Amino acid sequence: LAPLRFRNDMSGETVLITAGGTREALDPVRFLGNRSSGKMGYALAEAAQRRGARVILISAPTALQPPSGCEIVPVTTTGEMRAAVLARLPEASLIIKAAAVADYRPRIREEQKMKRTGPLTIDFEPTEDILAEVAARKTPGVLVIGFAAETENAIAHGRDKLLRKGADAIVLNDVSREGIGFDSDRNAATFLTRNTAIDMPEMTKRELAHRILDEVLVLRRPRLV
Ligand code: CTP
Ligand code: CA
Repeated sequence: LAPLRFRNDMSGETVLITAGGTREALDPVRFLGNRSSGKMGYALAEAAQRRGARVILISAPTALQPPSGCEIVPVTTTGEMRAAVLARLPEASLIIKAAAVADYRPRIREEQKMKRTGPLTIDFEPTEDILAEVAARKTPGVLVIGFAAETENAIAHGRDKLLRKGADAIVLNDVSREGIGFDSDRNAATFLTRNTAIDMPEMTKRELAHRILDEVLVLRRPRLV
C-alpha cells in the first residue's frame, strides 16, 4: 500500500540535489576527500522523484546505483560541483545540498605521482562555499536546504551555519553517534530552521528522506493554524 505521501505532492517542483563527497586531487593517484557514501542524497533524489518532482542530481563519486528517473550530472571536484550547481540553478525551485564538500584543495596538483621520500607538507587553499553562494543568489519562492555534520555542540553549530550561510533550513547530523550516518543505511537528524528544531529519530535513510521532504513542504506551504 503506497503511503499517502507518494501522491504527487512535489509535482511542479524542480529539485536540485547534490550528493556524494567531492575529491581534490593531490597527484594522479591520490585525493583529499571525506567520508560520504552519497546514500542520503540519493535517497532524497529518489523520494522527491517518486513524489512527482523533476530531479537534477549533481553527484560526486559514489558506489551507488543512480536512482531511476533522475537526471544525473556527474562531477568530481568542488569546482566542478559549483559550476554544475550554478549552471542548473535557474531551473531549480528547491536546492538540497546533501554533498560532503571537500573544504580544501591542494594549491598545487602534482603532474606525476609524488614519491614517498620523507615527511610531507601540503599547502591547501579553501574551496568556495557552494551553499552560501546559492543562498545569496536565490530568488523569491526558491528554498535552499543545507546539511551539517557536527561532532560536538551540534544544535549551536548547526544554527550558526544556517544563519551564516543564509539557508532556509539545515539538516543536522550528529556524526559522533555510533552505527548511523556515513556508510550506514540508517540515520537520525534534526531539521533546523530559524526558529524551529524538529527531531527526526533514527530510521532508514529512505524514511528520513521522506520526513525531510515533508518538512520542506511545510516551509513551502505553512500549515494553517
Ligand atoms: N558546503 C558547500 N560548500 C563548501 C562546504 C560546505 O556547499 N565548500 C555545504 C555542504 O554541502 C552542506 C553545508 O555546506 O550542505 C554544511 O557543510 P559542513 O561541512 O557541515 O559545513 P562547513 O561550512 O564546511 O563547516 P565545517 O566543515 O568547518 O564544520
Ligand atoms: Ca565542511
